[in-house]
Amino acid sequence: MRGMLDTVGETLPILLVPDPTLRAKCRPVGPQDTDTVRALLPRMFATMYQAPGIGLAAPQIGQKLRFLVADVQPNEARHPIAMINPEIAARSAELAVREEGCLSLPGQYAEVTRPARVKVRYLDATGARREIEAVGLLSACLQHEIDHLDGVLFVDHLSALKRNMILRRLAKELRQKRDEDR
Ligand code: NI
Repeated sequence: MRGMLDTVGETLPILLVPDPTLRAKCRPVGPQDTDTVRALLPRMFATMYQAPGIGLAAPQIGQKLRFLVADVQPNEARHPIAMINPEIAARSAELAVREEGCLSLPGQYAEVTRPARVKVRYLDATGARREIEAVGLLSACLQHEIDHLDGVLFVDHLSALKRNMILRRLAKELRQKRDEDR
């Protein structure tokens, strides 16, 4: 689907915490959703690259559907990945710690512990079945994005204390920004 992904898309607004859509359990993409997904993928890539970010899941743009985009090296040769109905088929017992952020929690970062390697099965933008084994940054990124499809945010992997600290700080910063913009 190179042609489609090369299309320059218009960017979309990114929903921020505490928007309830970010907490929704998304439903699988079905045949009736093909047009919606095809229309949104180029715009999701455009939104992700502009942000800039390395991943963006459908609920972050207000769609309660199981699809996402990712590119863990956006500043080098682009390597866009679109995943429809992704599933984690296997996880390593070995864990890895990595600092994560999220476009829906701008300016907030924390170290998150996750399985170091995952095997992900998904449909690509053409509807072809695919499977990849991800390690390092891509592994963390895909786990983070697939979490979004179940309404899970990276802060949910932290202690309640750390999570509440981040959510309070985010709310305060967004309030200040709104006041400044007024
Ligand atoms: Ni995120």
